[in-house]
Amino acid sequence: MKVHKIAVLAGDGIGKEVMPEGIRAVEAAAKRFNIGIEWTTFEWPSCEYYLEHGKMMPDDWKEQLNGYDALFFGAVGWPDTVPDHVSLWGSLLKFRRQFDQYINLRPVRLLPGVPCPLANKKPGDIDMYIVRENTEGEYSSVGGRMFEGTDREFVLQEAIFTRTGVDRVLKFAFELAQKRPKKHLTSATKSNGISISMPYWDERVDAMGLNYPEIKHDKYHIDILAARFVLSPERFDVVVASNLFGDILSDLGPACAGTIGIAPSANLNPERRFPSLFEPVHGSAPDIYGQNIANPIAMIWCGAMMLDFLGYTEAHDAMVSAVERCLVDGPRTPDMGGTASTTEVGMAIAAII
Ligand code: NAD
Ligand code: IPM
Ligand code: MN
Repeated sequence: MKVHKIAVLAGDGIGKEVMPEGIRAVEAAAKRFNIGIEWTTFEWPSCEYYLEHGKMMPDDWKEQLNGYDALFFGAVGWPDTVPDHVSLWGSLLKFRRQFDQYINLRPVRLLPGVPCPLANKKPGDIDMYIVRENTEGEYSSVGGRMFEGTDREFVLQEAIFTRTGVDRVLKFAFELAQKRPKKHLTSATKSNGISISMPYWDERVDAMGLNYPEIKHDKYHIDILAARFVLSPERFDVVVASNLFGDILSDLGPACAGTIGIAPSANLNPERRFPSLFEPVHGSAPDIYGQNIANPIAMIWCGAMMLDFLGYTEAHDAMVSAVERCLVDGPRTPDMGGTASTTEVGMAIAAII
């Protein structure tokens, strides 16, 4: 049996609470489907590590993590002690860029049993994948602050759209749309206001679309796209977006589908030159940390995506159905109107698996 080496990076806050449930569920699936997994736990990256060492991770983090088959990541950030841009640029954003995880794949589904905040929506009405560009765009460290402290003080931050970067995320999204029954792709743009990068993005979408004549594709400006997520989410299938637009849509989508506590994401290096990283969409949630009430489903669903990426589709499907069953008549955490703890929900799902 091949043994997959997984690095466990729980991070901060509820990352530390949901991680054991993610592991419990993956272990249950591994047992059922005879998959070999070897877990290695890291104390970093975390804000506690930062307070002790003045950095989020040791200098040789890349060498230490590079040999793993996947990175299982909780959440990072504790803004009371470490500014968010320091903790995130010192950890997660380094992983995405240095391991060239240029796809951030975020499924959004309204699942049976989940109360939906939108009127008259039923399971099936929200069923999409957000494909978020994950290494460039608006998330750039190019720029600076000048004339500090004078009345000419200014800051400048560039957005970067490379042809390689744009084309590869579009290609992934079109290929994903090919596998979906609706064969429909929507691109998020803002070419009316952002007059250089977004017309370029649109141009590349049209060029890529020529290679996929069977895929119907359309473009919406991000403002009305956000409105349509709320008003008519059923029109979306695969939604491809730049780094920032994709970030916003991937909190909005799950909120429309009930709670961000169940939303997973896969930061993929599709060529497998580097390890891919699987993490909930949500953050460290300092407001609920320490009470054992965080919803572990996002982390568990990430575990399913991780097994899928490692080649175990059946195990993925079994984990997702276990989540679905638990949502119908199992225990629920308070974000979904229940009173169960993180551990209770995690144990229920593992038992179903
Ligand atoms: P957040 O996602 O941590 O929390 C937003 C709200 O959603 C909070 O009210 C929280 O209680 C709730 N929530 C989040 N996850 C939940 C879960 N599993 N179950 C129940 N409720 C849940 O976002 P934030 O408050 O903007 O950020 C807090 C910290 O997390 C910041 O430091 C931020 O930078 C960081 N962050 C990290 C990641 C990451 O590591 N991938 C992602 C987002 C935010
Ligand atoms: C996410 C998060 C991160 C992002 C933050 C924490 C840097 O919000 O994974 O969605 O913006 O990518
Ligand atoms: Mn986000």
